[in-house]
Amino acid sequence: MRSATPNPSTPRIVLGVAGGIAAYKSVELLRLLRDAGYFVSPVLTPDATRFVGEVTFSALASEPTRTSLYGDPTTPIPHTYLGRSADLIVVAPATAHLIARYAHGLADDLLTATLLATDAPVLLCPAMHTEMWQQPSVQENLATLRRRGVLVLEPESGHLAGGDVGVGRMAEPAAIFELVQRILRGYRGPLSGRRVLISAGGTREAIDPVRVIANRSSGRQGYALAEVARRLGADVTLVTTLERPLALDVASSIEVLRVESAQQLHDTMIDRAPNSDCIIMAAAVTDFTVQPSSVKIKKDAGVPTLQLEMTPDILSELVASRRNGQIIVGFAAETNNVAENALKKLRGKGVDLLVVNDVSAPGVGFEHATNEVVLLGRDEVAETVSLRSKEDVSMAILARVASLLTQGAP
Ligand code: CTP
Repeated sequence: MRSATPNPSTPRIVLGVAGGIAAYKSVELLRLLRDAGYFVSPVLTPDATRFVGEVTFSALASEPTRTSLYGDPTTPIPHTYLGRSADLIVVAPATAHLIARYAHGLADDLLTATLLATDAPVLLCPAMHTEMWQQPSVQENLATLRRRGVLVLEPESGHLAGGDVGVGRMAEPAAIFELVQRILRGYRGPLSGRRVLISAGGTREAIDPVRVIANRSSGRQGYALAEVARRLGADVTLVTTLERPLALDVASSIEVLRVESAQQLHDTMIDRAPNSDCIIMAAAVTDFTVQPSSVKIKKDAGVPTLQLEMTPDILSELVASRRNGQIIVGFAAETNNVAENALKKLRGKGVDLLVVNDVSAPGVGFEHATNEVVLLGRDEVAETVSLRSKEDVSMAILARVASLLTQGAP
């Protein structure tokens, strides 16, 4: 039976439907959602009504279908009403046009206005022809939305409209339904329930009790990652070389472990790795160490010779011992031949995502509050994240992590 007002404990889902042939599958999704007891409010774009009937959705949903910003008998401002009361907005299918309008903040119909008027999680289920799906404009719009925390359930390969076959078919209603359930079960953000292990700072190698070999890392990018991951719902462990962890804003729910040398960082990361869904090696690891003198080296003995030894490559070891489904993110600090070196590092280290810093550029990398990075995925496609705060860069990195975790590691 239909209830006009949702019980406050019943999650309310706004089911947005854009104008594509996959709209017929949303009817099945609606039925699954209603059967599971969710309060579902359908919103169809005007084009969607060319593919499916308003009446069909009204008959199955918890309240009548809405298609317009105007003339709603229950409220004069339907977009803010829906946006504020939604626990989740699912757009299935999300067409290229809908994705573009949402990415650019356009609000020319009820569905896009509702998307702008909400801080509820949003799940997009794109559906379109392969050529459209592969357009850089579509992929860039999706990357923008992911960076803002929007979840995307990628389309599958299969039969498309007009007898074509390829990537672009909307995910099956059962798969969308399963993801909705996971999102709504204790949802705190796109990283809700995920354990994220992050290293930050620069390691220091003792030469003697007074002197160290160090690097210029301030730890800011790693700390920003930890804070943003926590905000996105993750359980975060931060392994840091910084002596005063509270010098940076570390929320109390973040577990902080202090290390100094590359070997200590290695041991802690290897120990904690099996328990983590995602590992981010933001720390700048000193590549060389020495056997330290137990007493201060006196200068009257002349210039000492330091016999340097390699430290363990922690990232490579983490990748070699990764468990199924674990996402591993590495950083690359480069000063020259950036693109070439980064690609070599991506292939060599075997990470899922490489965050590339040209540390010689102004305002970038070590000791700055801002950063500019290139994100290189396994597909070797480069996404540039232009100069912005290290928090905003963290958002871009973690949006990619959330999407990799949703899809499962390759
Ligand atoms: N890294 C690591 N262990 C090391 C050195 C680096 O885990 N001994 C990690 C860093 O945390 C970073 C990535 O590997 O995520 C790349 O670090 P980077 O200093 O850019 O490269 P290196 O591997 O040290 O190689 P090179 O210095 O020759 O560029």
